[in-house]
Amino acid sequence: MLIDIKNLYKIYNEGHESEVRALDGVSLQIDRGEFVAIIGQSGSGKSTLMNILGCLDIPTYGDYHLDGTDVTELSDRQLAHIRNKQIGFIFQGYNLIPALSARENVELPLIYQGVGMGQRAERAMESLERVGMAERADHKPSEMSGGQQQRVAIARAIAARPPIIMADEPTGALDSKTGRQVLEILHSLHEDGSTIILITHDNGIAATADRIVRLSDGHIIADGSREEVGL
Ligand SMILES: Nc1ncnc2c1ncn2[C@@H]1O[C@H](COP(=O)(O)OP(=O)(O)O)[C@@H](O)[C@H]1O
Ligand SMILES: [Mg+2]
Repeated sequence: MLIDIKNLYKIYNEGHESEVRALDGVSLQIDRGEFVAIIGQSGSGKSTLMNILGCLDIPTYGDYHLDGTDVTELSDRQLAHIRNKQIGFIFQGYNLIPALSARENVELPLIYQGVGMGQRAERAMESLERVGMAERADHKPSEMSGGQQQRVAIARAIAARPPIIMADEPTGALDSKTGRQVLEILHSLHEDGSTIILITHDNGIAATADRIVRLSDGHIIADGSREEVGL
Protein backbone atom coordinates (compact mmCIF):
# COMPACT_ATOMS: atom_id res chain seq x y z
CA MET A 1 0.00 0.00 0.00
CA LEU A 2 1.51 3.32 -1.05
CA ILE A 3 -0.92 5.61 0.76
CA ASP A 4 -2.84 4.43 3.79
CA ILE A 5 -4.86 6.87 5.86
CA LYS A 6 -7.22 5.86 8.60
CA ASN A 7 -9.79 7.96 10.38
CA LEU A 8 -8.13 11.24 9.54
CA TYR A 9 -9.33 14.58 10.90
CA LYS A 10 -8.29 18.13 10.12
CA ILE A 11 -10.08 20.51 12.43
CA TYR A 12 -9.49 24.25 12.29
CA ASN A 13 -10.18 26.36 15.39
CA GLU A 14 -11.09 23.26 17.36
CA GLY A 15 -13.43 23.94 20.28
CA HIS A 16 -14.25 27.46 19.12
CA GLU A 17 -17.45 28.70 17.57
CA SER A 18 -15.59 29.02 14.29
CA GLU A 19 -14.57 25.33 14.32
CA VAL A 20 -14.34 23.79 10.83
CA ARG A 21 -14.00 20.06 10.31
CA ALA A 22 -12.28 20.22 6.94
CA LEU A 23 -11.67 16.45 7.11
CA ASP A 24 -14.07 14.62 9.34
CA GLY A 25 -12.95 11.01 9.65
CA VAL A 26 -11.48 10.09 6.28
CA SER A 27 -10.01 6.67 5.46
CA LEU A 28 -8.40 6.06 2.09
CA GLN A 29 -5.97 3.56 0.62
CA ILE A 30 -4.15 4.13 -2.66
CA ASP A 31 -1.91 1.57 -4.34
CA ARG A 32 1.18 2.25 -6.38
CA GLY A 33 0.30 2.94 -10.00
CA GLU A 34 -3.28 4.11 -9.47
CA PHE A 35 -4.79 7.17 -11.18
CA VAL A 36 -7.21 8.63 -8.64
CA ALA A 37 -9.36 11.72 -9.10
CA ILE A 38 -10.64 13.50 -6.00
CA ILE A 39 -13.79 15.48 -6.62
CA GLY A 40 -16.24 17.48 -4.56
CA GLN A 41 -17.68 20.95 -4.28
CA SER A 42 -15.71 23.96 -3.22
CA GLY A 43 -15.00 23.72 0.51
CA SER A 44 -15.49 19.95 0.67
CA GLY A 45 -11.91 19.37 1.86
CA LYS A 46 -10.07 18.42 -1.34
CA SER A 47 -7.09 20.75 -0.91
CA THR A 48 -6.86 19.96 2.80
CA LEU A 49 -6.70 16.27 1.94
CA MET A 50 -4.07 16.81 -0.74
CA ASN A 51 -1.95 18.94 1.57
CA ILE A 52 -1.93 16.17 4.13
CA LEU A 53 -1.37 13.40 1.57
CA GLY A 54 1.50 15.51 0.21
CA CYS A 55 3.07 16.02 3.64
CA LEU A 56 2.60 19.79 3.32
CA ASP A 57 0.34 19.76 6.36
CA ILE A 58 -0.33 17.43 9.27
CA PRO A 59 -3.67 16.04 10.44
CA THR A 60 -5.27 17.03 13.74
CA TYR A 61 -5.97 13.34 14.44
CA GLY A 62 -5.58 10.11 12.55
CA ASP A 63 -3.05 7.84 10.90
CA TYR A 64 -1.14 8.33 7.70
CA HIS A 65 1.38 5.85 6.38
CA LEU A 66 3.16 6.80 3.18
CA ASP A 67 5.09 3.93 1.62
CA GLY A 68 5.15 2.21 5.01
CA THR A 69 6.35 5.24 6.99
CA ASP A 70 4.15 6.74 9.72
CA VAL A 71 4.42 10.36 8.60
CA THR A 72 2.48 11.74 11.58
CA GLU A 73 5.55 10.94 13.68
CA LEU A 74 8.06 12.86 11.57
CA SER A 75 9.77 16.18 12.18
CA ASP A 76 9.36 19.02 9.67
CA ARG A 77 12.77 18.22 8.28
CA GLN A 78 11.96 14.54 7.82
CA LEU A 79 8.64 15.47 6.23
CA ALA A 80 10.40 17.75 3.77
CA HIS A 81 12.79 14.95 2.90
CA ILE A 82 10.05 12.38 2.25
CA ARG A 83 8.09 14.97 0.26
CA ASN A 84 11.03 15.81 -1.99
CA LYS A 85 11.72 12.16 -2.64
CA GLN A 86 8.21 10.84 -3.11
CA ILE A 87 6.01 13.59 -4.49
CA GLY A 88 5.83 16.04 -7.37
CA PHE A 89 3.26 18.82 -6.97
CA ILE A 90 1.22 20.66 -9.57
CA PHE A 91 -1.06 23.55 -8.62
CA GLN A 92 -3.76 25.54 -10.38
CA GLY A 93 -1.67 28.72 -10.37
CA TYR A 94 1.51 27.01 -11.74
CA ASN A 95 3.64 28.59 -8.95
CA LEU A 96 6.63 29.19 -11.22
CA ILE A 97 9.23 31.74 -10.15
CA PRO A 98 8.81 34.74 -12.49
CA ALA A 99 12.49 35.76 -12.54
CA LEU A 100 13.69 32.29 -13.61
CA SER A 101 13.63 30.67 -17.03
CA ALA A 102 11.66 27.47 -17.64
CA ARG A 103 14.83 25.41 -17.29
CA GLU A 104 15.86 27.15 -14.06
CA ASN A 105 12.39 26.60 -12.61
CA VAL A 106 12.58 22.90 -13.43
CA GLU A 107 16.06 22.66 -11.90
CA LEU A 108 14.94 24.02 -8.53
CA PRO A 109 13.78 20.77 -6.91
CA LEU A 110 17.00 19.15 -8.11
CA ILE A 111 19.05 21.81 -6.34
CA TYR A 112 17.21 20.94 -3.10
CA GLN A 113 18.14 17.32 -3.70
CA GLY A 114 21.80 18.15 -4.16
CA VAL A 115 21.97 17.05 -7.80
CA GLY A 116 25.11 18.47 -9.43
CA MET A 117 24.94 21.22 -12.04
CA GLY A 118 25.60 19.16 -15.14
CA GLN A 119 23.12 16.47 -14.27
CA ARG A 120 20.62 19.09 -13.23
CA ALA A 121 20.65 20.76 -16.62
CA GLU A 122 20.38 17.40 -18.35
CA ARG A 123 17.44 16.21 -16.25
CA ALA A 124 15.67 19.56 -16.56
CA MET A 125 15.92 19.38 -20.35
CA GLU A 126 14.68 15.78 -20.35
CA SER A 127 11.68 16.80 -18.27
CA LEU A 128 10.94 19.79 -20.51
CA GLU A 129 11.14 17.51 -23.54
CA ARG A 130 8.72 15.12 -21.86
CA VAL A 131 6.07 17.88 -21.76
CA GLY A 132 6.92 19.34 -25.17
CA MET A 133 8.53 22.51 -23.81
CA ALA A 134 12.23 21.98 -24.58
CA GLU A 135 12.29 24.72 -27.20
CA ARG A 136 11.02 27.21 -24.59
CA ALA A 137 13.67 26.32 -22.00
CA ASP A 138 15.08 29.85 -21.90
CA HIS A 139 11.74 31.62 -21.73
CA LYS A 140 10.47 33.25 -18.54
CA PRO A 141 6.95 32.43 -17.30
CA SER A 142 5.65 35.83 -18.46
CA GLU A 143 6.63 34.87 -22.02
CA MET A 144 4.50 31.72 -21.99
CA SER A 145 0.77 30.98 -22.18
CA GLY A 146 -1.04 29.48 -19.20
CA GLY A 147 -0.97 26.02 -20.74
CA GLN A 148 2.75 26.31 -21.44
CA GLN A 149 3.42 27.46 -17.88
CA GLN A 150 1.50 24.49 -16.55
CA ARG A 151 3.55 22.15 -18.75
CA VAL A 152 6.72 23.67 -17.28
CA ALA A 153 5.24 23.17 -13.81
CA ILE A 154 4.67 19.50 -14.70
CA ALA A 155 8.28 19.26 -15.88
CA ARG A 156 9.35 20.68 -12.51
CA ALA A 157 7.14 18.16 -10.70
CA ILE A 158 8.71 15.19 -12.52
CA ALA A 159 12.32 16.41 -12.64
CA ALA A 160 13.34 14.56 -9.48
CA ARG A 161 11.46 11.47 -10.73
CA PRO A 162 9.11 11.12 -7.78
CA PRO A 163 6.84 8.06 -7.87
CA ILE A 164 3.75 10.13 -6.97
CA ILE A 165 2.29 13.17 -8.73
CA MET A 166 -0.29 15.26 -6.88
CA ALA A 167 -2.15 17.88 -8.85
CA ASP A 168 -4.62 20.32 -7.25
CA GLU A 169 -6.95 21.69 -9.96
CA PRO A 170 -4.14 21.69 -12.57
CA THR A 171 -6.59 22.57 -15.34
CA GLY A 172 -8.64 25.01 -13.27
CA ALA A 173 -7.18 28.12 -14.90
CA LEU A 174 -7.02 26.73 -18.44
CA ASP A 175 -9.48 26.64 -21.31
CA SER A 176 -10.89 23.19 -21.97
CA LYS A 177 -8.65 22.38 -24.95
CA THR A 178 -5.45 23.34 -23.12
CA GLY A 179 -6.75 21.60 -20.02
CA ARG A 180 -7.15 18.40 -22.01
CA GLN A 181 -3.53 18.61 -23.17
CA VAL A 182 -2.38 18.90 -19.57
CA LEU A 183 -4.62 15.95 -18.65
CA GLU A 184 -3.08 13.90 -21.47
CA ILE A 185 0.39 14.53 -20.06
CA LEU A 186 -0.79 13.26 -16.66
CA HIS A 187 -2.19 10.15 -18.33
CA SER A 188 1.05 9.52 -20.17
CA LEU A 189 3.02 9.83 -16.90
CA HIS A 190 0.59 7.31 -15.43
CA GLU A 191 1.23 4.94 -18.31
CA ASP A 192 4.94 5.22 -17.53
CA GLY A 193 4.28 4.06 -13.97
CA SER A 194 3.56 7.18 -11.90
CA THR A 195 0.86 7.18 -9.26
CA ILE A 196 -1.40 10.15 -9.98
CA ILE A 197 -3.69 11.93 -7.54
CA LEU A 198 -5.70 14.58 -9.34
CA ILE A 199 -8.02 17.02 -7.64
CA THR A 200 -10.61 18.57 -9.88
CA HIS A 201 -14.12 19.98 -9.77
CA ASP A 202 -14.50 19.16 -13.49
CA ASN A 203 -16.49 15.93 -13.82
CA GLY A 204 -15.36 15.42 -17.42
CA ILE A 205 -11.74 15.44 -16.32
CA ALA A 206 -12.43 13.26 -13.29
CA ALA A 207 -14.23 10.73 -15.50
CA THR A 208 -10.93 9.92 -17.24
CA ALA A 209 -9.51 8.50 -13.97
CA ASP A 210 -9.58 4.78 -13.12
CA ARG A 211 -10.91 5.62 -9.69
CA ILE A 212 -12.87 8.57 -8.39
CA VAL A 213 -13.19 9.62 -4.77
CA ARG A 214 -15.97 12.07 -3.96
CA LEU A 215 -15.68 14.31 -0.90
CA SER A 216 -18.53 16.17 0.74
CA ASP A 217 -18.20 18.20 3.95
CA GLY A 218 -14.99 16.44 4.89
CA HIS A 219 -16.36 12.93 4.29
CA ILE A 220 -15.73 10.45 1.49
CA ILE A 221 -19.21 9.78 0.15
CA ALA A 222 -18.25 7.69 -2.90
CA ASP A 223 -15.16 5.81 -4.05
CA GLY A 224 -14.97 3.69 -7.17
CA SER A 225 -15.02 3.57 -10.93
CA ARG A 226 -16.74 6.20 -13.03
CA GLU A 227 -19.88 4.06 -13.18
CA GLU A 228 -19.77 3.31 -9.47
CA VAL A 229 -19.68 6.98 -8.47
CA GLY A 230 -22.21 7.94 -11.11
CA LEU A 231 -20.18 10.21 -13.39
N1 LIG B 1 -6.38 27.55 7.23
C1 LIG B 1 -7.70 27.39 7.39
N2 LIG B 1 -8.33 27.88 8.46
C2 LIG B 1 -9.67 27.70 8.65
N3 LIG B 1 -10.45 27.02 7.78
C3 LIG B 1 -9.88 26.51 6.70
C4 LIG B 1 -8.47 26.66 6.43
N4 LIG B 1 -8.20 26.03 5.25
C5 LIG B 1 -9.35 25.52 4.81
N5 LIG B 1 -10.38 25.80 5.67
C6 LIG B 1 -11.78 25.38 5.54
O1 LIG B 1 -11.81 23.97 5.40
C7 LIG B 1 -12.81 23.57 4.48
C8 LIG B 1 -12.18 22.75 3.34
O2 LIG B 1 -11.35 23.61 2.55
P1 LIG B 1 -10.54 23.09 1.29
O3 LIG B 1 -9.81 21.86 1.66
O4 LIG B 1 -9.73 24.23 0.79
O5 LIG B 1 -11.71 22.73 0.27
P2 LIG B 1 -11.68 22.51 -1.31
O6 LIG B 1 -10.26 22.40 -1.77
O7 LIG B 1 -12.49 21.27 -1.54
O8 LIG B 1 -12.36 23.72 -1.91
C9 LIG B 1 -13.48 24.85 4.02
O9 LIG B 1 -14.62 25.05 4.82
C10 LIG B 1 -12.44 25.90 4.28
O10 LIG B 1 -13.04 27.15 4.49
MG1 LIG C 1 -9.18 23.46 -3.17
